[in-house]
Amino acid sequence: MSSTVILGTGSYAPERILTNDDLAHTVETSDEWIRTRTGIRERRIAAPGESTSDMAVHAARRALVDAGVNPAEIDLLIVATITPDLPMPACACLVQAKLGVPSTAACFDLNAACSGFVFALDTAAAMIGSGRYRRALIIGAEKLSAIVDWQDRTTCVLFGDGAGAAVLAPSPGAGRGFIGAQLGTLGESADLLFIPRGGSSAPSTAESIAARDHCIRMKGKEVFKLAVRAMDDAAREILEHHHVRPDQIALVIPHQANLRIIEAISEYLELPMDRFFVNVDRYGNTSAASIPLALDEARRAGRIRPGDLTLLVSFGAGLTYGSALVRW
Ligand code: COA
Repeated sequence: MSSTVILGTGSYAPERILTNDDLAHTVETSDEWIRTRTGIRERRIAAPGESTSDMAVHAARRALVDAGVNPAEIDLLIVATITPDLPMPACACLVQAKLGVPSTAACFDLNAACSGFVFALDTAAAMIGSGRYRRALIIGAEKLSAIVDWQDRTTCVLFGDGAGAAVLAPSPGAGRGFIGAQLGTLGESADLLFIPRGGSSAPSTAESIAARDHCIRMKGKEVFKLAVRAMDDAAREILEHHHVRPDQIALVIPHQANLRIIEAISEYLELPMDRFFVNVDRYGNTSAASIPLALDEARRAGRIRPGDLTLLVSFGAGLTYGSALVRW
Protein backbone atom coordinates (compact mmCIF):
# COMPACT_ATOMS: atom_id res chain seq x y z
CA MET A 1 0.00 0.00 0.00
CA SER A 2 1.44 3.39 -0.97
CA SER A 3 0.56 6.26 1.36
CA THR A 4 -1.52 9.32 0.53
CA VAL A 5 -0.82 13.01 0.75
CA ILE A 6 -3.21 15.99 0.76
CA LEU A 7 -2.03 18.25 -2.10
CA GLY A 8 -4.53 21.06 -1.54
CA THR A 9 -7.71 22.18 0.16
CA GLY A 10 -10.52 24.61 -0.64
CA SER A 11 -13.79 25.77 0.86
CA TYR A 12 -16.86 27.81 0.13
CA ALA A 13 -19.58 29.42 2.21
CA PRO A 14 -22.64 31.11 0.71
CA GLU A 15 -22.83 34.89 1.07
CA ARG A 16 -26.04 35.17 3.06
CA ILE A 17 -25.52 35.34 6.82
CA LEU A 18 -28.36 34.36 9.14
CA THR A 19 -27.68 35.63 12.67
CA ASN A 20 -29.13 34.40 15.94
CA ASP A 21 -31.08 37.66 16.18
CA ASP A 22 -32.56 36.99 12.72
CA LEU A 23 -33.75 33.58 13.96
CA ALA A 24 -35.27 35.15 17.07
CA HIS A 25 -37.73 36.91 14.72
CA THR A 26 -39.08 33.58 13.41
CA VAL A 27 -38.91 31.14 16.37
CA GLU A 28 -38.98 31.60 20.14
CA THR A 29 -35.28 31.78 20.86
CA SER A 30 -32.58 34.33 21.65
CA ASP A 31 -29.00 35.09 20.74
CA GLU A 32 -28.08 34.49 24.38
CA TRP A 33 -29.67 30.98 24.45
CA ILE A 34 -28.05 29.88 21.21
CA ARG A 35 -24.59 31.29 22.07
CA THR A 36 -24.42 29.84 25.57
CA ARG A 37 -25.77 26.38 24.58
CA THR A 38 -23.88 25.98 21.28
CA GLY A 39 -21.29 28.73 20.68
CA ILE A 40 -23.03 29.55 17.37
CA ARG A 41 -23.44 33.25 16.46
CA GLU A 42 -24.41 32.96 12.80
CA ARG A 43 -24.62 30.52 9.90
CA ARG A 44 -24.59 30.79 6.09
CA ILE A 45 -27.64 30.06 3.94
CA ALA A 46 -27.44 29.11 0.25
CA ALA A 47 -29.03 31.53 -2.21
CA PRO A 48 -32.30 30.50 -3.85
CA GLY A 49 -31.32 28.19 -6.71
CA GLU A 50 -27.84 27.55 -5.26
CA SER A 51 -27.46 23.79 -4.92
CA THR A 52 -25.19 21.47 -2.98
CA SER A 53 -23.33 20.65 -6.21
CA ASP A 54 -22.80 24.39 -6.90
CA MET A 55 -21.21 24.85 -3.48
CA ALA A 56 -19.18 21.66 -3.92
CA VAL A 57 -17.83 22.95 -7.24
CA HIS A 58 -16.73 26.29 -5.70
CA ALA A 59 -14.83 24.49 -2.93
CA ALA A 60 -13.39 21.93 -5.37
CA ARG A 61 -12.06 24.59 -7.76
CA ARG A 62 -10.24 26.27 -4.88
CA ALA A 63 -8.77 22.95 -3.74
CA LEU A 64 -7.64 22.11 -7.29
CA VAL A 65 -5.90 25.49 -7.65
CA ASP A 66 -4.27 25.05 -4.23
CA ALA A 67 -3.09 21.57 -5.28
CA GLY A 68 -1.96 22.64 -8.76
CA VAL A 69 -4.09 19.86 -10.23
CA ASN A 70 -6.28 20.06 -13.33
CA PRO A 71 -9.82 18.56 -13.23
CA ALA A 72 -8.75 16.39 -16.21
CA GLU A 73 -6.30 14.57 -13.89
CA ILE A 74 -8.97 13.49 -11.36
CA ASP A 75 -9.75 9.76 -11.46
CA LEU A 76 -11.73 9.51 -8.21
CA LEU A 77 -14.40 11.96 -7.00
CA ILE A 78 -16.28 11.41 -3.76
CA VAL A 79 -18.94 13.81 -2.47
CA ALA A 80 -19.83 13.29 1.18
CA THR A 81 -23.32 14.69 1.68
CA ILE A 82 -26.76 14.07 3.16
CA THR A 83 -28.26 16.79 0.97
CA PRO A 84 -27.56 15.75 -2.64
CA ASP A 85 -29.25 17.95 -5.27
CA LEU A 86 -31.51 14.99 -6.18
CA PRO A 87 -32.24 11.55 -4.69
CA MET A 88 -30.77 10.18 -7.92
CA PRO A 89 -28.22 10.43 -9.51
CA ALA A 90 -25.38 11.04 -7.08
CA CYS A 91 -24.31 14.63 -6.45
CA ALA A 92 -20.79 13.54 -7.47
CA CYS A 93 -22.04 12.96 -11.05
CA LEU A 94 -23.37 16.54 -11.23
CA VAL A 95 -20.10 17.87 -9.79
CA GLN A 96 -18.14 15.82 -12.34
CA ALA A 97 -20.06 17.40 -15.23
CA LYS A 98 -19.71 20.95 -13.86
CA LEU A 99 -15.97 20.59 -13.22
CA GLY A 100 -15.07 18.68 -16.38
CA VAL A 101 -13.70 15.63 -14.59
CA PRO A 102 -13.12 12.85 -17.19
CA SER A 103 -15.64 10.08 -17.85
CA THR A 104 -13.04 7.50 -16.76
CA ALA A 105 -13.24 8.79 -13.15
CA ALA A 106 -15.15 6.91 -10.45
CA CYS A 107 -17.68 9.40 -9.06
CA PHE A 108 -19.98 8.57 -6.16
CA ASP A 109 -21.63 9.97 -3.03
CA LEU A 110 -20.93 8.84 0.48
CA ASN A 111 -23.49 9.23 3.27
CA ALA A 112 -21.94 9.19 6.72
CA ALA A 113 -23.61 12.47 7.73
CA CYS A 114 -21.27 14.75 9.72
CA SER A 115 -18.55 12.07 9.62
CA GLY A 116 -18.73 12.02 5.82
CA PHE A 117 -15.43 13.79 5.15
CA VAL A 118 -13.44 11.54 7.50
CA PHE A 119 -15.08 8.46 5.92
CA ALA A 120 -14.33 9.86 2.43
CA LEU A 121 -10.71 10.54 3.39
CA ASP A 122 -10.20 6.96 4.60
CA THR A 123 -12.00 5.55 1.53
CA ALA A 124 -9.96 7.65 -0.93
CA ALA A 125 -6.69 6.88 0.89
CA ALA A 126 -7.44 3.13 0.64
CA MET A 127 -8.29 3.44 -3.07
CA ILE A 128 -5.12 5.44 -3.75
CA GLY A 129 -3.18 2.96 -1.59
CA SER A 130 -4.38 0.15 -3.88
CA GLY A 131 -2.35 1.76 -6.64
CA ARG A 132 -5.38 2.01 -8.96
CA TYR A 133 -6.15 5.75 -8.45
CA ARG A 134 -3.73 8.66 -8.63
CA ARG A 135 -5.70 11.88 -8.10
CA ALA A 136 -8.72 11.97 -5.80
CA LEU A 137 -11.02 14.90 -5.16
CA ILE A 138 -13.02 14.51 -1.96
CA ILE A 139 -15.70 17.03 -1.05
CA GLY A 140 -18.01 17.56 1.89
CA ALA A 141 -20.94 19.75 0.83
CA GLU A 142 -24.32 20.42 2.40
CA LYS A 143 -27.41 22.52 1.90
CA LEU A 144 -28.90 21.73 5.30
CA SER A 145 -31.17 24.77 5.04
CA ALA A 146 -33.25 22.60 2.65
CA ILE A 147 -33.89 19.86 5.23
CA VAL A 148 -34.16 21.91 8.42
CA ASP A 149 -37.58 22.41 9.98
CA TRP A 150 -37.56 26.20 10.29
CA GLN A 151 -40.39 26.02 12.84
CA ASP A 152 -38.47 23.69 15.19
CA ARG A 153 -36.31 25.86 17.46
CA THR A 154 -34.54 22.81 18.90
CA THR A 155 -32.85 22.09 15.54
CA CYS A 156 -33.14 25.10 13.20
CA VAL A 157 -30.67 27.19 15.21
CA LEU A 158 -27.92 24.58 14.82
CA PHE A 159 -27.36 24.05 11.12
CA GLY A 160 -25.93 25.92 8.10
CA ASP A 161 -24.78 25.50 4.49
CA GLY A 162 -21.27 25.24 2.99
CA ALA A 163 -18.64 23.07 1.35
CA GLY A 164 -15.02 22.01 1.72
CA ALA A 165 -12.74 19.92 -0.46
CA ALA A 166 -9.33 18.27 -0.63
CA VAL A 167 -7.19 16.83 -3.43
CA LEU A 168 -5.29 13.64 -2.62
CA ALA A 169 -2.45 11.83 -4.38
CA PRO A 170 0.05 9.04 -3.68
CA SER A 171 2.72 10.29 -1.31
CA PRO A 172 6.09 10.99 -2.95
CA GLY A 173 7.92 10.02 0.23
CA ALA A 174 7.32 8.52 3.63
CA GLY A 175 6.59 10.55 6.76
CA ARG A 176 4.06 12.98 5.31
CA GLY A 177 0.34 12.73 4.58
CA PHE A 178 -2.51 10.53 5.75
CA ILE A 179 -1.37 8.28 8.59
CA GLY A 180 -4.57 6.41 9.37
CA ALA A 181 -8.21 6.58 10.39
CA GLN A 182 -10.49 4.96 12.93
CA LEU A 183 -14.14 4.77 11.87
CA GLY A 184 -17.15 3.53 13.82
CA THR A 185 -20.94 3.26 13.69
CA LEU A 186 -23.71 3.03 16.31
CA GLY A 187 -26.62 1.98 14.10
CA GLU A 188 -28.83 1.01 17.04
CA SER A 189 -29.06 4.73 17.87
CA ALA A 190 -30.08 5.77 14.35
CA ASP A 191 -33.39 7.19 15.59
CA LEU A 192 -31.72 9.88 17.71
CA LEU A 193 -30.94 11.97 14.63
CA PHE A 194 -32.84 11.23 11.43
CA ILE A 195 -35.36 12.28 8.79
CA PRO A 196 -38.56 10.27 9.34
CA ARG A 197 -40.09 10.42 5.85
CA GLY A 198 -39.12 10.74 2.23
CA GLY A 199 -37.10 7.51 1.97
CA SER A 200 -38.17 4.22 0.38
CA SER A 201 -39.65 2.79 3.59
CA ALA A 202 -41.85 5.83 4.14
CA PRO A 203 -42.29 7.95 1.03
CA SER A 204 -43.52 11.50 1.57
CA THR A 205 -47.26 12.11 1.47
CA ALA A 206 -49.15 15.41 1.45
CA GLU A 207 -49.80 14.89 5.19
CA SER A 208 -46.18 14.05 6.05
CA ILE A 209 -44.95 17.10 4.18
CA ALA A 210 -47.48 19.31 5.98
CA ALA A 211 -46.13 17.85 9.26
CA ARG A 212 -42.55 18.57 8.00
CA ASP A 213 -41.56 14.92 8.51
CA HIS A 214 -39.12 15.25 5.60
CA CYS A 215 -36.97 17.45 7.90
CA ILE A 216 -34.29 16.70 10.51
CA ARG A 217 -35.51 15.37 13.86
CA MET A 218 -33.13 15.07 16.80
CA LYS A 219 -33.03 14.12 20.47
CA GLY A 220 -30.40 16.73 21.30
CA LYS A 221 -29.44 15.74 24.84
CA GLU A 222 -28.89 12.06 23.96
CA VAL A 223 -26.93 13.01 20.84
CA PHE A 224 -24.77 15.39 22.87
CA LYS A 225 -23.75 12.67 25.34
CA LEU A 226 -23.01 10.09 22.64
CA ALA A 227 -21.11 12.67 20.57
CA VAL A 228 -18.74 13.50 23.41
CA ARG A 229 -18.12 9.83 24.26
CA ALA A 230 -17.69 8.67 20.66
CA MET A 231 -15.40 11.54 19.65
CA ASP A 232 -13.27 11.05 22.75
CA ASP A 233 -13.04 7.28 22.06
CA ALA A 234 -12.23 7.85 18.37
CA ALA A 235 -9.49 10.35 19.25
CA ARG A 236 -7.99 8.18 21.99
CA GLU A 237 -8.04 4.98 19.90
CA ILE A 238 -6.22 6.49 16.93
CA LEU A 239 -3.60 8.16 19.15
CA GLU A 240 -2.95 4.89 20.99
CA HIS A 241 -2.88 2.88 17.76
CA HIS A 242 -0.19 5.16 16.28
CA HIS A 243 1.68 5.70 19.58
CA VAL A 244 1.01 9.44 19.56
CA ARG A 245 0.56 11.48 22.76
CA PRO A 246 -2.16 14.18 22.72
CA ASP A 247 0.48 16.89 23.25
CA GLN A 248 2.15 15.86 19.97
CA ILE A 249 -0.94 17.05 18.08
CA ALA A 250 -0.38 20.57 16.74
CA LEU A 251 -4.03 21.14 15.85
CA VAL A 252 -7.29 19.22 16.22
CA ILE A 253 -9.92 19.83 13.54
CA PRO A 254 -13.09 18.66 15.25
CA HIS A 255 -16.55 18.42 13.73
CA GLN A 256 -18.13 21.81 14.38
CA ALA A 257 -21.49 20.93 15.96
CA ASN A 258 -21.36 22.64 19.33
CA LEU A 259 -18.60 24.52 21.14
CA ARG A 260 -19.48 22.68 24.39
CA ILE A 261 -18.82 19.32 22.70
CA ILE A 262 -15.40 20.58 21.52
CA GLU A 263 -14.62 21.92 25.01
CA ALA A 264 -15.52 18.55 26.54
CA ILE A 265 -13.14 16.74 24.14
CA SER A 266 -10.42 19.26 24.99
CA GLU A 267 -10.91 18.53 28.68
CA TYR A 268 -10.94 14.72 28.25
CA LEU A 269 -7.81 14.74 26.08
CA GLU A 270 -6.17 17.28 28.42
CA LEU A 271 -5.30 19.35 25.38
CA PRO A 272 -5.89 23.12 25.66
CA MET A 273 -8.56 24.79 23.52
CA ASP A 274 -5.89 26.73 21.58
CA ARG A 275 -4.98 23.39 19.94
CA PHE A 276 -8.54 23.09 18.59
CA PHE A 277 -9.67 24.91 15.46
CA VAL A 278 -13.12 26.43 16.00
CA ASN A 279 -15.35 28.16 13.46
CA VAL A 280 -18.75 26.87 14.66
CA ASP A 281 -19.48 30.44 15.79
CA ARG A 282 -19.57 31.59 12.12
CA TYR A 283 -21.04 28.58 10.31
CA GLY A 284 -22.97 26.43 12.80
CA ASN A 285 -23.07 22.73 12.00
CA THR A 286 -22.54 22.15 8.26
CA SER A 287 -22.45 18.33 8.59
CA ALA A 288 -20.07 16.75 6.03
CA ALA A 289 -18.77 20.22 5.06
CA SER A 290 -17.77 21.09 8.60
CA ILE A 291 -14.33 19.41 8.86
CA PRO A 292 -13.04 20.28 5.35
CA LEU A 293 -14.26 23.88 5.75
CA ALA A 294 -12.44 24.14 9.08
CA LEU A 295 -9.35 22.38 7.69
CA ASP A 296 -9.12 24.79 4.77
CA GLU A 297 -9.63 27.85 6.97
CA ALA A 298 -6.99 26.58 9.40
CA ARG A 299 -4.46 26.07 6.59
CA ARG A 300 -5.14 29.46 5.02
CA ALA A 301 -4.88 31.15 8.42
CA GLY A 302 -1.39 29.64 8.87
CA ARG A 303 -2.52 27.43 11.76
CA ILE A 304 -1.00 24.33 10.10
CA ARG A 305 2.72 24.34 9.28
CA PRO A 306 4.85 21.80 7.41
CA GLY A 307 5.58 18.84 9.65
CA ASP A 308 2.56 19.47 11.91
CA LEU A 309 0.47 16.54 13.05
CA THR A 310 -3.29 17.17 12.87
CA LEU A 311 -6.15 15.11 14.25
CA LEU A 312 -9.57 15.18 12.57
CA VAL A 313 -12.42 13.92 14.72
CA SER A 314 -16.09 13.63 13.83
CA PHE A 315 -19.52 12.49 14.92
CA GLY A 316 -22.85 12.45 13.10
CA ALA A 317 -26.17 10.87 12.24
CA GLY A 318 -26.03 7.12 11.82
CA LEU A 319 -24.73 7.40 14.35
CA THR A 320 -21.27 7.53 12.81
CA TYR A 321 -17.97 8.64 14.26
CA GLY A 322 -14.37 8.74 13.16
CA SER A 323 -10.90 10.15 13.53
CA ALA A 324 -7.92 10.58 11.20
CA LEU A 325 -4.28 11.58 11.64
CA VAL A 326 -2.53 13.67 8.98
CA ARG A 327 1.12 14.85 8.94
CA TRP A 328 1.66 18.00 6.79
N1 COA B 1 -34.10 28.60 22.06
C1 COA B 1 -34.60 28.66 23.29
N2 COA B 1 -34.96 27.56 24.00
C2 COA B 1 -34.75 26.37 23.40
C3 COA B 1 -34.21 26.26 22.12
C4 COA B 1 -33.88 27.43 21.44
N3 COA B 1 -33.37 27.42 20.21
N4 COA B 1 -34.12 24.95 21.79
C5 COA B 1 -34.59 24.26 22.85
N5 COA B 1 -34.97 25.12 23.81
C6 COA B 1 -35.54 24.79 25.10
C7 COA B 1 -36.20 23.44 25.09
O1 COA B 1 -37.55 23.54 24.66
C8 COA B 1 -36.11 23.03 26.52
O2 COA B 1 -37.09 23.69 27.25
P1 COA B 1 -37.82 22.97 28.50
O3 COA B 1 -36.72 22.68 29.48
O4 COA B 1 -38.80 23.99 28.96
O5 COA B 1 -38.43 21.73 27.93
C9 COA B 1 -34.77 23.60 26.91
O6 COA B 1 -34.49 24.68 26.03
C10 COA B 1 -33.68 22.57 26.75
O7 COA B 1 -32.58 23.12 27.29
P2 COA B 1 -31.37 22.25 27.65
O8 COA B 1 -31.79 20.90 28.08
O9 COA B 1 -30.53 23.00 28.58
O10 COA B 1 -30.69 22.14 26.25
P3 COA B 1 -29.30 21.51 26.03
O11 COA B 1 -28.30 22.05 26.97
O12 COA B 1 -29.41 20.02 25.91
O13 COA B 1 -28.94 22.09 24.61
C11 COA B 1 -28.77 21.40 22.36
C12 COA B 1 -29.71 21.70 23.51
C13 COA B 1 -29.58 20.96 21.16
C14 COA B 1 -28.00 22.66 22.01
C15 COA B 1 -27.78 20.29 22.80
O14 COA B 1 -28.49 19.21 23.33
C16 COA B 1 -26.92 19.81 21.67
O15 COA B 1 -26.11 20.54 21.15
N6 COA B 1 -27.01 18.51 21.34
C17 COA B 1 -26.21 17.95 20.29
C18 COA B 1 -26.76 18.38 18.98
C19 COA B 1 -25.82 18.12 17.87
O16 COA B 1 -24.71 18.53 17.91
N7 COA B 1 -26.30 17.42 16.86
C20 COA B 1 -25.58 17.17 15.68
C21 COA B 1 -24.60 16.10 15.92
S1 COA B 1 -23.67 15.87 14.48
